[in-house]
Amino acid sequence: MVQVLRTPAEFKAWRKNQTGNVGFVPTMGALHSGHEELLKNARRENQVVVLSIFVNPTQFNDPKDFEKYPLTWDQDLKIAETNKVDAIFYPRYPDMYPDEYRYKVSENSYSQLLDGAHRPGHFDGVLSVVMKLFNVVAPDKAYFGEKDFQQLTLIKGMVDAFFMDVEIVPVATVRENDGLAKSSRNLLLTPEDRQKAPIIYKTITTAKTSEEAAKALTAAGFAVDYVTDVHGRRFVAARLGAVRLIDNVQI
Ligand code: PAF
Repeated sequence: MVQVLRTPAEFKAWRKNQTGNVGFVPTMGALHSGHEELLKNARRENQVVVLSIFVNPTQFNDPKDFEKYPLTWDQDLKIAETNKVDAIFYPRYPDMYPDEYRYKVSENSYSQLLDGAHRPGHFDGVLSVVMKLFNVVAPDKAYFGEKDFQQLTLIKGMVDAFFMDVEIVPVATVRENDGLAKSSRNLLLTPEDRQKAPIIYKTITTAKTSEEAAKALTAAGFAVDYVTDVHGRRFVAARLGAVRLIDNVQI
């Protein structure tokens, strides 16, 4: 039976009775096989596996995006059970933000580029909630997907900067058969846009330059936020209707 714990105090009381290494997978729910890959890695490498589900409002710069974020609790619970999760931390907003977000963690360099340049405050929200989650869960290892490569890099940086005792484990992006990176946002695509979405991966892996990739995506009907090559990786963010998709590959 998966334990479902709703407040930091409840979780910490449960955590005190656990022995062995704790592997942690933080999520915003709407779990898919990309999340399952994180859970499988956590299960393999730890005695105890914790999943958190919390749609964190402070990382949404667009309130409409927050409102329509998919909620699939029943399915998430099934996925947690199948993957032998020991506990789900499933807090409510006032329990996570008793300070009403007066305190935050921010990074003032890399977080301003790429997605940060298009989503003001996004990474402050991510870093703040991840710090809070780490302080509640006290994991030995935490698992993050490479699809959100900038997020992963910033979280690693935060852990180093604050001497936090948690190992950040990167996990390779899981893709659909047609190449589209698995994402909870894929659920929001219209059937027509779902057909079109794999062009992102195809384009960033085949175009010679980021400019060429951006042009090809625009021609295919995407609203391109950016395609940028940096530190040997190509990063992209592009919108289809109201759905914003991101991806990155090694080049
Ligand atoms: O990647 C996500 O799902 C979120 O950004 C995270 C890390 C769970 C923080 O809310």
